[in-house]
Amino acid sequence: MKTVGVIGSGQMGAGIAQVSAQAGYRVLLSDVDRARAEAGKAGIAKQLDRLVAKEKLSADDRDAAIARIEPVGDIAAFAPCELVIEAATEREDIKRRIFQDVAGVLGEKAILASNTSSIPITRLAQASHDPARFMGVHFFNPVPVMGLIELIRGLATADATVAAVEGFGGSLGKEIVHANDAPGFIVNRVLMPMLNEACFALGEGVASVRDIDTACRLGLNHPMGPLTLADFIGLDTCLEITRVLFDGTGDPKFRPAPLLVKYVEAGWHGRKTGRGFYDYAGEEPVPTR
Ligand code: 3HC
Repeated sequence: MKTVGVIGSGQMGAGIAQVSAQAGYRVLLSDVDRARAEAGKAGIAKQLDRLVAKEKLSADDRDAAIARIEPVGDIAAFAPCELVIEAATEREDIKRRIFQDVAGVLGEKAILASNTSSIPITRLAQASHDPARFMGVHFFNPVPVMGLIELIRGLATADATVAAVEGFGGSLGKEIVHANDAPGFIVNRVLMPMLNEACFALGEGVASVRDIDTACRLGLNHPMGPLTLADFIGLDTCLEITRVLFDGTGDPKFRPAPLLVKYVEAGWHGRKTGRGFYDYAGEEPVPTR
């Protein structure tokens, strides 16, 4: 595999493009238009500059990685890709439209993989060019730092597809785990109930934002407390995935915490909107409750 396409140049897409280019792949990067894809590439260049400043990457390797990333304005440019990874907005209608657009362009052996964190793979495969050459490839945020990829096969995914994507993921230096096409796969199935429970605890007045986060950070040795992590992921995303777990299993243990719902309704989606369980207006995040 030499050429990889990445659809979506936001946080996840840019991260995937970055690690792919650093691993030596030629990367075609698209977004809603070329300007957005260019902006995604500029963000990657900044990340790589930081690595050079920290002496974790040589200037030559940075330049080579940047040169391997080609922002494209038209999905037709994906024709030479052996693998295309979709990392667009987590909305099924948007993903389905992208798959239909790209279907007419992909080569005979090309694989399409979705970085969806929660939409069923077997269902998404129905909108793809070929369900046998479609699967889930779930990266974690921040992609360059997190060492894991979850691979999810749909009912029709071929063994050869799984093997090819596993080989690609391994070549990025990531550990691979395999999950069945069940709601939340592995990580979100385990993580979201914890984040949701932290919202219940906060809403019920068990402790403050600071104390819940400090307790889990130091008491469990987690790098971030659950409310910090929820803000980092995005409260809208957390709610969306929790709803997928609830709807997909019918199990009341996954019901969303009312406070999480309220925050999302208020437009307090975490870091990206400047406010979630913390206020991000100043230099340091300030707990809001
Ligand atoms: N991009 C690239 N590198 C980053 C980064 C980013 N966005 N954020 C931090 N880093 C790097 C830093 O440069 C630093 O590198 P260095 O050790 O080489 O200097 C290293 O990560 C550690 O960063 P910091 O010292 O700034 O801060 P922390 O020690 O707190 O680490 C963190 C930051 C890596 C984000 C850490 O807090 C962490 O691991 N948090 C948990 C993240 C997590 O759980 N992610 C998964 C979310 S779930 C998910 O993605 C699934 C989805 O479907 C919801």
